[in-house]
Amino acid sequence: MSENKSGNQVALITGGGSGIGAAVARRLLDAGYRVAVTGRGEERLTAFAEELGRPGELLTIAGDTAVYDDVRSAVGATLRKFGRLDAVVANAGFATHDTVAEGDPAGWTDMVLTNVLGPALLIRASVDALKETRGRIVLVGSVAGFVHTPGNIYGATKWAVTGLAENTRRQVTEWGVGVTLIAPGRTETPFWDSYGSLPPGHLLTADQIADSVVWAMCRPAGVDVNTVVVRPVGQPV
Ligand SMILES: NC(=O)c1ccc[n+]([C@@H]2O[C@H](COP(=O)([O-])OP(=O)(O)OC[C@H]3O[C@@H](n4cnc5c(N)ncnc54)[C@H](OP(=O)(O)O)[C@@H]3O)[C@@H](O)[C@H]2O)c1
Repeated sequence: MSENKSGNQVALITGGGSGIGAAVARRLLDAGYRVAVTGRGEERLTAFAEELGRPGELLTIAGDTAVYDDVRSAVGATLRKFGRLDAVVANAGFATHDTVAEGDPAGWTDMVLTNVLGPALLIRASVDALKETRGRIVLVGSVAGFVHTPGNIYGATKWAVTGLAENTRRQVTEWGVGVTLIAPGRTETPFWDSYGSLPPGHLLTADQIADSVVWAMCRPAGVDVNTVVVRPVGQPV
């Protein structure tokens, strides 16, 4: 689990075909990891693999992180291809960008299932393999899972992720498995496409968040970084 062992290691990243997940995948490949990335859209995954020159160390797996059969098969495919699993990054997620008092509930089911159920399914499907490697679970939460904003139902899903991280840590730490919650502030990614514009002010880049993810993942064996909140300077809440 230390930096100098990374050449042998394997990570599975949900939603790894764009944004933060793709940036983490690139960094881990550069560090010598073998990496599996998932996403619902085959095209996005293929484009990402092509952008990287289709390296043999990258496996792309189409599947929905909110569907247990898909998540189990992603873990199984990763183990079959690479033979072990050292880290999972529960990164897939999105926002409907509306509010509990005025929004459209039709969009909330998928958001809640992706953002809350998805990470739980990934933990359930991967924990046996992670016990074997004394690996790490990384959950991508949000600043919105630490601060309240009026009516923010997306924020409520991320509060659940904040809770899931610590609840999980308390169970799996005795098995030698680490748990890290990364809570990004505003970051320039396709996350904002459905919002219609980028939010005001200075935004982080996906690479800047990936730095923190990879830093936390590459701590020496026995060191478990639990919570990392990263905002751009100038983000007031
Ligand atoms: N950008 C920000 O400002 C910000 C701030 C705080 C937290 N975050 C969190 O960071 C994480 C990554 O988001 P991002 O900013 O990098 O945006 P992004 O580029 O839109 O990445 C989200 C990825 O998740 C995948 N995805 C969505 N639903 C999925 C599902 N049900 N099953 C499998 N894959 C799914 C998407 O691919 P497909 O659509 O092809 O499935 C996409 O590749 C999310 O959890 C987000 O909530 C983002």
